[in-house]
Amino acid sequence: MQHLQGTSYFIEIGDITQSSLETYIAKHYQQAKIVIIVDENTHDFCLEYLLTSFDCLKDAEVILLPAGEENKVMEVCFQVWEALTEYGIGRNDLILNLGGGVVTDMGGFIASVYKRGVDFIHIPTSLLGMVDASIGGKTGIDLGVYKNQLGVFNHPKAIFIDPIFLATLPDDEKRNGYAEMLKHGLIADKGHWERIKDKTVEQITIQDIADSVGIKFSIVEQDPNEKNSRKTLNFGHTIGHAIEGYLLEREPISHGYAVAMGMLVEAGISLDEQKITEIEFDEIKSVICKNFKQIAFEKEEIAIIVAIMRNDKKNELNKINFSLLNKIGSCEINCFFEGKQLIQKFNYLN
Ligand SMILES: NC(=O)c1ccc[n+]([C@@H]2O[C@H](COP(=O)([O-])OP(=O)(O)OC[C@H]3O[C@@H](n4cnc5c(N)ncnc54)[C@H](O)[C@@H]3O)[C@@H](O)[C@H]2O)c1
Repeated sequence: MQHLQGTSYFIEIGDITQSSLETYIAKHYQQAKIVIIVDENTHDFCLEYLLTSFDCLKDAEVILLPAGEENKVMEVCFQVWEALTEYGIGRNDLILNLGGGVVTDMGGFIASVYKRGVDFIHIPTSLLGMVDASIGGKTGIDLGVYKNQLGVFNHPKAIFIDPIFLATLPDDEKRNGYAEMLKHGLIADKGHWERIKDKTVEQITIQDIADSVGIKFSIVEQDPNEKNSRKTLNFGHTIGHAIEGYLLEREPISHGYAVAMGMLVEAGISLDEQKITEIEFDEIKSVICKNFKQIAFEKEEIAIIVAIMRNDKKNELNKINFSLLNKIGSCEINCFFEGKQLIQKFNYLN
């Protein structure tokens, strides 16, 4: 069992049945009611394992969310808050979020706002949830085409990461997490990039997952409120989020695929700005193109995507804020561009 201790929470990586979940609940929530939030898939594939592994969860209430990013919206939150009220959940009770990034983002938000905050624990079940979404205290939901437009920073009390849940996760979903693992290598750790760049998703090991968790954890611990170094995690996301948001109401694509496209274009911008070499760019491009399908957008679509970026949370003084690579394994924050400078950069997707 690998253990990471943060300032306000801890992470355990390994067999959850050997983790401290049971003793932690016995110590802090003996009298508490427990609610487990799942989506349709984690209900079918993950819940039984959890319930049969832990006696302390036998009386837990289960709240079922519809699966998918299109359901990471306020309407669904309202229903959950109503259910929590019906179950008589109070401030001293506990919410367990068992699912991918949608469940942990939305479950964390629901818990943070309900009665001004109820404790919650994340048990991520997707690769993306394990290496990224569950860590760092960003909770939230989407508003129309704007990703994570509503939310709060609030950490879970604990995160339990057990790769056993990945057994039922489709490979395509695993690739979403792989995109974020590649990002962690690109922005902060060349060794991690080297170790995973030629792997298939089936070849990812628990140590690769732990390494990625460690990178994200140390970045967010240093800069929890995203004033400085945490912005490096946005590499690929300024464009990736805008693409994901644009397609949300048309033909949704998953987060990791959008981020992979975002990383390709933003690596292209890094090249144009002479921050990385052509050799580095070609290496990044070949890894991304091998694993992630690209979409070529029409001119009018690019204009809409750039317009979405103009509303990005990270912007300052009407300029769009990017985190760009300096080299493989290092990232520079606060690189500002005008929207019109970005249109032709989408050529990197072709
Ligand atoms: N808070 C953050 O810092 C942060 C970081 C990155 C991404 N995110 C968010 O995370 C979300 C994407 O996360 P995701 O890719 O996990 O999406 P997701 O939660 O929608 O999960 C993907 C799919 O896999 C299913 N699934 C999950 N675990 C499973 C399992 N063990 N077996 C079978 N099916 C399973 C889900 O039901 C869903 O259909 C986005 O909303 C993104 O904005 C948040």
